[in-house]
Amino acid sequence: MSLFRKKSLTQLLATADSEKGLKRTLGATNLVALGIGAIIGAGLFVRTAAAAGQAAGPAVTISFIIAAIGCAFAGLCYAEFAAMIPIAGSAYAYSYVTMGELVAWIIGWALIMEYALGAATVSIAWSEYLNTLLGGRIPYEWSHSPFESFTDASGVLHQGILNAPALVILVLLTLLLIKGTQESAMVNAIIVFIKVAIVLIFIVVGWSFINPDNHTPYMIPEGTAAFKDQAGKTIADYSGVFRHGWGGVLGGAAIVFFAFIGFDAVSTAAQEAKNPARDMPIGILGSLAVCTILYILFGHVLTGVAPWTDFVDPVKGREASVAYAISTYMTGYGWLATAVTVAILAGFSSVILVMLMGQSRIFYTMSGDGLIPKVFGDLHPKYKTPYKANWILLIFVGAFAAFVPGHVAGDLTSFGTLFAFVLVSAGVWILRKSEPNIKRPFKTPWVPLVPILGVLVCSAMIFALDKQTLTVAMIWMVLGLVVYFTYSKRNSKLKEPGHHPGEILPKASDFE
Ligand code: ALA
Repeated sequence: MSLFRKKSLTQLLATADSEKGLKRTLGATNLVALGIGAIIGAGLFVRTAAAAGQAAGPAVTISFIIAAIGCAFAGLCYAEFAAMIPIAGSAYAYSYVTMGELVAWIIGWALIMEYALGAATVSIAWSEYLNTLLGGRIPYEWSHSPFESFTDASGVLHQGILNAPALVILVLLTLLLIKGTQESAMVNAIIVFIKVAIVLIFIVVGWSFINPDNHTPYMIPEGTAAFKDQAGKTIADYSGVFRHGWGGVLGGAAIVFFAFIGFDAVSTAAQEAKNPARDMPIGILGSLAVCTILYILFGHVLTGVAPWTDFVDPVKGREASVAYAISTYMTGYGWLATAVTVAILAGFSSVILVMLMGQSRIFYTMSGDGLIPKVFGDLHPKYKTPYKANWILLIFVGAFAAFVPGHVAGDLTSFGTLFAFVLVSAGVWILRKSEPNIKRPFKTPWVPLVPILGVLVCSAMIFALDKQTLTVAMIWMVLGLVVYFTYSKRNSKLKEPGHHPGEILPKASDFE
């Protein structure tokens, strides 16, 4: 019974207000900019090439459309929650109020995969781009995990030791966060402007370099032979269902799904929205729409400029793929490759920052609820940031960034996010049934169709992830349940008197 104890919404709103005192200053445009700031990053600049080379070929454009549709269903559901419960937080906070503690814990645990491993993944991509900018001067050994190796042209085997640049950027951004970084709307707008400008320049300039032959055939044909590296090791195998044809397009969707992660970060700013009922849906769905259009055009140009087969080799074309495509095929635009690389590094930094911030905020909230130790909620005496949570997070994220290949961390990030999306989508439907009278400033259209499709599409993308990812993710989720039953359940603050499980109905005046 107590597994489904719920937090009272009234209490949640009161706690959030007293703790943060956030001002409602963000309009719809700011929220769209916030979303784009958190969305465009490694997913676009690194995973587009990975999806093309491993599963979808030029049809990575269709993969983007499928991933966007899955996100739109989940986004509509997020929008309902964000407008209904306009407090800083995440799927974790919504589900604690609506579906109870166990589900909230499960979502919170999955969100660690989204935010912490998301930060690790983008820091690994940051390392790749830095190395490109430095002309490959960082030795392979010190910029790759121990699970990666590469045989160079002279037959010398290079074995990764640790990814040092990824660690460096994480340490720097953690220090910044501890100091109380406040990304003002202005800074965010500048970064968004730079990122979008680069994507647009690449699309416009690259369009004239598209070679139609590179788009034929549009999908990876059945029977395509596996690719091997110089040492004879298989680096890409197209025999699986999700590795060629339409199945490959779906497999590609699971890979590029990462590029859309971050639109839910808009919902964490619900408490700062001037008019959450109207602007949260615009912020969430607007940023998704803008990014989807940019992504499709970008994928079209990237696979048109360079053949998808160039992106099979993880060292040759896939790492820093945009700079590679420009410098290899777009003669006369060497400057653009450098400009792209510098600006992408800045863009990646903002994504890492938002992810680390989001994660430490979730830890902070979970610790306030008693589900994880109090240390995660300790504030710095001077800077008032959850600095201990930031340090612990740095150790965890740093370990992944240093020792785990980027695609493994990235796939786990996708799993965690998709899993949360499935539960948020289901949550909307469940709550419509169980609490039909709650005031809902924004209503997800076509319930239960949209939540059901959200569950189905996101589940399909989960199953299209590779077996290794699913196995590791399952171990992670089981570990989460062990932690819950051995620690969190016993230490939950909801055990204390004064909490009123089930008291979740907000009054209309809560929103006025
Ligand atoms: N969507 C973010 C990125 O692609 C996580 O970097």
